[in-house]
Order: sequence, then C-alpha cells, then structure tokens
Amino acid sequence: MSIPRSRRLCGAAPSLCAIPLLLLLPAAAPANGILPPSYPGAALINEGRRIFFEETFEGNGRTCGTCHPEDNNHTLDPAYIAALPADDPLFVAERPAPNPLAENFEKPVLMRGAALILENTNGFGDLAHDYTLRSVPHLLALRTSLSAPASDGTSQPPDQRTGWSGDGAPVDLDAAPPLRGTLRDFTVGAIVQHLPKTLARVPGRDFRLPTQNELDALEAYMLSLGRQQEFDDLTTIRLTDARAERGRRNYLGEGLAGGVPCNACHFNAGANTDPAFDFPAGVTPPAFESTNRSFAPRVEELLDQPGDVLAGGQLPFDDGFGHGSNLFNAPTVVEAADTGPYFHSNQIDTVEALVAFYSSPRHLRNGEVLPPIVGLNGAQVANVGAFLRVINADENARSAIGLVEQARLLYRPRERRVDLDLARAEIGDALEVLRGAHLHSGDAVPLLRKARRAIARGRLGAAIRHLRRVRRVMIVRPADDD
Ligand code: HEC
Ligand code: HEC
Repeated sequence: MSIPRSRRLCGAAPSLCAIPLLLLLPAAAPANGILPPSYPGAALINEGRRIFFEETFEGNGRTCGTCHPEDNNHTLDPAYIAALPADDPLFVAERPAPNPLAENFEKPVLMRGAALILENTNGFGDLAHDYTLRSVPHLLALRTSLSAPASDGTSQPPDQRTGWSGDGAPVDLDAAPPLRGTLRDFTVGAIVQHLPKTLARVPGRDFRLPTQNELDALEAYMLSLGRQQEFDDLTTIRLTDARAERGRRNYLGEGLAGGVPCNACHFNAGANTDPAFDFPAGVTPPAFESTNRSFAPRVEELLDQPGDVLAGGQLPFDDGFGHGSNLFNAPTVVEAADTGPYFHSNQIDTVEALVAFYSSPRHLRNGEVLPPIVGLNGAQVANVGAFLRVINADENARSAIGLVEQARLLYRPRERRVDLDLARAEIGDALEVLRGAHLHSGDAVPLLRKARRAIARGRLGAAIRHLRRVRRVMIVRPADDD
C-alpha cells in the first residue's frame, strides 16, 4: 500500500486539507482533549489520542505521551521530569541491571538536568558515537509548520518539515509503503527510536510497527493540536500594553540597528518565512515563499550552553539537516512563552534570554565570535519578550475557550473533566507567562483567575465570557473573530 494521494496533497498544501474540517467546526476550534461526537473527524482524532497516550507498541513501556504529555503542552521540561515517579517509563535507561537500554539509549544526567532526549538522527550505525541530544517539541500548530520549501537547497523528500532539523522522520523509498519523511512517517521513526525493548531494534521483537489505521489516527490527532491556522497579520493588530505593543513593532523590524527582523524568519509569529522579505546574501539560500525554511543560527555551537555545562563540555555536536548542514527549521513563536526551554537542545530558559541570544554576539565553542542576528538593544529585548508573552497568553485563552466549549457538548463526566482540566492548565500557563513580566496585572490576570474559578464551579458560560474578555483587553483586532 502506498501513501494515499490525498495525503500527498496535504503535504504539499496543508491548508487545503484543513478546509473541509474548518468549515464545519465552530469558530474557535481547538482540538486537544476529548472531542464531542458532533465534530467532524472526532472519532478518528479521539482514537488517535487514545493510541498516543496508551499504546506501547509492545515495546519498552513508553507511549508517545511519555515525552509529549498533554497537560504540559505535549513537551517536557526539567520541572515536569522532576515531578515524575522513579518508575516512569521515561526513565527506562535507569532501570536496574540487567538492562539492555542502560548504555547508548539515553543520557540520564542530561535528561534530568535539561530535558534532553537522545536521537540517532543519522541512523543507528554507530550508537556509541553518532547521536545528538534534543529537546521535545510541543506538537502545537503542526498544521501550520510542515510545508517544505521548494527551492532552499534542502532535498525532497523529506516531504514535510518535522523535527528540529526538518529531516527527523525516516526516509526509505524502498520500504512498503515508502517512507517519505512526512508527519505520518515520523510515528514509525519515533517508535523505532524511543520505544524499543533492546538496541537491536528488531520489529516484531523489540516493538511492533503501527498499522495503517493507527497511523491515520495518530496523524489526525497530532494535526488537531493547537492553532489550525496562522496567527493574525501582525501589522493589523494592536497590543494594549504599551511595552508589548512596542515589542510588536520591534519584532517587525522597527528601531533595529541592523540584522534581520524576527518577522523575516517567523512570519506573523509562525514558523514560515515572510514571502516579501529580501534576505541578505549569505543568510540562507534564497527562496521567496512562505514555507517552513531552515537557517543556521548556530545555537548548537554556543560556548557555555547548558548541555555542555552539565556534560563537562561533552555535548555532542548537532549537525542539523542531513549531514553537516547546521540547518534547523524555524519553529512557531506564538506557542513559545509557555513551552520553554528553547532551541533544539534546550539552550535557553526564558523568552527574554532567547531574544538576547539573537541580539548579542555569538561566542562559539571554537572561539569564533559572530555578529548578532537581530540588532535589538536591551530595552527592546524586554519589549519583544513582553510581546511574545502576550500573544502566547492570547493563544492560551483561545485554546481554553475551545476546550470549555467542547466540554459543554460532552455528557460523560470523566470526558468533560479531561477538557476542563486542560482548559485550566491553559489558564495556568497564561497566568504564569503574564506574571513572569508583570503584564496585565490589573485586567487580564484577574479575569483569568475568575475564569478558572468559574470552571471549578461548573459555570462554563461565565468562564467563556471571562476568557473572551481576556483576549479583548490584551489585543485590539480589526475584526473581532470571537
Ligand atoms: C523519549 C521521548 C519521546 C517519545 C517517547 C516520543 N517522542 Fe516525539 N519527539 C521527541 C524528541 C526529542 C523530538 C525532536 C526530534 C528531532 O528533532 O529529531 C520529537 C519530535 C516529534 C515530532 C516532530 C514535531 C515537530 O514540531 O516537528 C513529532 C510529530 C513527534 N515527536 C511525534 C511522536 C509520536 C507520534 C510518538 C509516539 C510514537 C513520539 N513522538 C514519541 C521525543 C519523544
Ligand atoms: C534568520 C532566521 C531567524 C531569525 C531572524 C529569527 N529566528 Fe527564531 N529561530 C530560527 C531558527 C532556525 C530556529 C531554530 C534554531 C535551533 O533550535 O537551532 C529558531 C528558534 C526560535 C524559537 C524557539 C522556539 C522553541 O520552541 O524552542 C523562538 C521562540 C524564536 N526563534 C523566536 C525568535 C525571535 C523573537 C526573533 C527575533 C528576536 C527570532 N526568532 C529571529 C530562525 C530565525
């Protein structure tokens, strides 16, 4: 069986595939949690969710949810890991001897210290030497971040941009069905990489491969997570907090002392390139289209990065896309503030420090010093940080509204609880993100607290009203899409 033609179309233009689904869904349609049966595709997505969190594929006991937990934005950070019990399957490499996964499967010090996971991105040929240590991406808004550039010099397949370097999914054109490096194929790669009983990784003995139905369901579930469309056109919105509003303009390039604006690589705070931006020669091969492009900010070469500090200078070099390209694909920005640490090896903890990475000279491990990528001064760093926090809290509120709306359509208390707990987690994230820079203390923060209390008391209509106000007091949009 080959990958159905319709899926190839989805790969080429994910927005096309979204249309039938979006037309039928209510306006703010997030889909993590449990979907009521009235949602088109609900049965497949809910089945995908079940597989994602329960199916071990007869492997070492891990599920996809072991590293992508839904109450933590489908990602891991050191605090979340510290709260897990010692027998959690995340820690399979730490099980008592005889343990076939004790060596060359994970690096426990780096997992616990910096939430890093071992990946053999160049294949399983030399386990002791050929590996990288990467952070867990959040899986949110995947529908907006997969489209591969046609002409930036990176080969196709991979047909879709998954993983930090955009080549994470296995590519095997001789396999039946052929693996073309799509989101769907990524599931196969994740099982072989993370779920085996032994490092021999023999299918049928160390794990079982997924069925086509399971792949369909997992793909539908992952595509349903988070935003289903691009964030607003940043030139048409206004943030009511003056510092965050200045940050929006700094993000777009106003007041920059040289360099490339954030918006060039993360257009409208997403993962795709600004189609109108003229990249200076040498930044990356030119490709004037809004796709998920790859760049070489060279984060992996920074001197004093946490992985190196924890591993005594021994963090292996991560060579990015393919072999030795140093290219990494741009992740979304809207989802950043509540999903730190940042970058492919969790190099940076807070959004302000992330912006400071871009605006300071890059002192590399080899002694070289490269100029800043984005010419922001210290004040502007804080402004852009405030901007990232507000748009993230807005997305939290949007997502929470959708989850509460879903809960209202469910009858079984246990299922309602799932959606309401996730809505509360979203509200908690918004509070944390805003309070982290003393933003909206007098309006959005108290409204978020009210919304959380309303959910606890079962007053779901009131919760939705508070959350809609949270969005309106922070961002003025030309047409309120609520
Ligand atoms: C042991 C932890 C772990 C487990 C278990 C795990 N993942 Fe991941 N996942 C990661 C890491 C680390 C990355 C980043 C990989 C890279 O960049 O090469 C990732 C990346 C991804 C991505 C790419 C996201 C993006 O933004 O491009 C997808 C999709 C994904 N995982 C799906 C799955 C699925 C499906 C399963 C279950 C079959 C799974 N993962 C199990 C750690 C894990
Ligand atoms: C030249 C293109 C380019 C520019 C300009 C740029 N970025 Fe990035 N950004 C990237 C790439 C590539 C990555 C992934 C790097 C990695 O992990 O090695 C990234 C990663 C990120 C992440 C990490 C997300 C995560 O989930 O860990 C955030 C947030 C981010 N950028 C925000 C910004 C902001 C804010 C600016 C402006 C100050 C900016 N970027 C400027 C290309 C760019």
